[in-house]
Amino acid sequence: MATRKKSAKAASKTSANSAFSAKTARVEMKAERQARTEPNGGGTIQSAKGKLGVMIPGMGAVATTFVAGVEAIRRDLAKPIGSLTQMGTVRLGKRTEGRSPKIKEFVPLAGLDDLVFTGWDIFEDNMYEAASHAGVLDYRLLERLKPFLSSLKPRAAVFDHNYVKRINGPNVKKGKTKMDLAGQLRDDIRDFKKTSGASRLITMWCGSTESYIEPTTAHQSVKAFEKALRENDEMIAPSMIYAYASLMEGVPFANGAPNLTVDLPVMLELSRNNEAPICGKDFKTGQTLMKTVLAPAFKARLLGLSGWYSTNILGNRDGEVLDDPGSFKTKEESKLGVLEHILQPALYPELYGNIFHKVRINYYPPRGDNKEGWDNIDIFGWLGYPMQIKVDFLCRDSILAAPIVLDLVLFLDLAKRSSELRGLGIQEWLSFYFKSPMTPLGLYPEHDLFIQSMKLKNTLRHLKNEPLITHLGLEYYD
Ligand SMILES: NC(=O)c1ccc[n+]([C@@H]2O[C@H](COP(=O)([O-])OP(=O)(O)OC[C@H]3O[C@@H](n4cnc5c(N)ncnc54)[C@H](O)[C@@H]3O)[C@@H](O)[C@H]2O)c1
Repeated sequence: MATRKKSAKAASKTSANSAFSAKTARVEMKAERQARTEPNGGGTIQSAKGKLGVMIPGMGAVATTFVAGVEAIRRDLAKPIGSLTQMGTVRLGKRTEGRSPKIKEFVPLAGLDDLVFTGWDIFEDNMYEAASHAGVLDYRLLERLKPFLSSLKPRAAVFDHNYVKRINGPNVKKGKTKMDLAGQLRDDIRDFKKTSGASRLITMWCGSTESYIEPTTAHQSVKAFEKALRENDEMIAPSMIYAYASLMEGVPFANGAPNLTVDLPVMLELSRNNEAPICGKDFKTGQTLMKTVLAPAFKARLLGLSGWYSTNILGNRDGEVLDDPGSFKTKEESKLGVLEHILQPALYPELYGNIFHKVRINYYPPRGDNKEGWDNIDIFGWLGYPMQIKVDFLCRDSILAAPIVLDLVLFLDLAKRSSELRGLGIQEWLSFYFKSPMTPLGLYPEHDLFIQSMKLKNTLRHLKNEPLITHLGLEYYD
């Protein structure tokens, strides 16, 4: 829980940790030097020919809204609203050139018709039943998609009730050791590749939020992790077993939940060795999306912040899982980091050195997937005069998450086909989609949505050997 004390402590910790800051500054200066505005080559990108298999651990509200949505769009029953890959454009060259192709025409992405799906869940419901249970999509649309969705049945899951305390289901794998379970998942992956005819695969974690844990020695290297798998180490969560299995098969992995999962040295090592890109964590959908839009505005205008109280009510299964203190703590950590990284209290102590930041999530069944996120924001301006902002976002959780899943699937596949990106491990250019973006050790994450958007589009320009856009714009006045 972040309190005034915690913010102050964090600020002093940041300033005290000068060695860390110096290292961070060096990493950034190096990156800055390399970020030239002229084209500098983006390597080669293999074509997106063939089917792309999407494997989803956790076939609940987000997963079914995504898959049903893709099918509805393929059948021209709806539009891919909210998806950058489907509707977004990227400006190329000067503002006077009038070149703004659609992203999907600029870089070679898999087409929606090429996507094939499978998944795992602890419940036996097929995707039609799971989508009906989630109650996100209108039943008339679901009826039209019924034959397709009913054909998608979950594979047996790797599950540990200790990590997700509020749910239990029958569709679970059995194995003597966690290494056996990883082996069974690897068999599933190979089986899906063979039976679906997919030429490439992606794993997209849409499973429940697991209980909060911190990394241990078991997570520090592949060798230590494999030993721990064989010894059934309790610090290996189910999501890590899926990640291990995917990366061992050379399959990229995205983490939509706030779990540690791939945010560990072992996974970075595997990802780089096997050229299987990773990204995460925790989809940035509702309240945090708003936070990462508003907080940069306060900072840009040097408006102070004394408090930010965020509360949510939601009534879906995710809300039920998050009602457990262990799962909530994982989500809370993910949501709390945002303000500190954007506002940099160590640099602006008078403005942001004493913030009371609180996040609550309340399970309230009547609302189902239609979450309400309230924010009370106490800011101060000229001469310290206080002001308040209230945000009441009546959103639809999975409607906001589904286009993010689609974009991540297509961009991770692009990363895997790019000679420049596939061996990097963490795909920081995809921070745009996450509440708690992964970064290499010693580098703080960029949370500002607009910096994240620029980073993503500049990465695409770089891959296609187009000049990066800095928005300097002096050339228009020569
Ligand atoms: N919807 C959003 O806006 C949003 C935003 C950020 C993050 N998330 C995260 O995305 C995840 C999915 O959200 P949701 O609303 O679809 O939740 P959900 O509860 O509807 O679906 C999660 C599914 O995962 C399954 N599951 C749990 N553990 C599993 C395991 N080990 N293997 C296979 N399946 C497992 C559950 O049975 C359930 O069907 C959650 O972790 C949530 O916190 C969602």
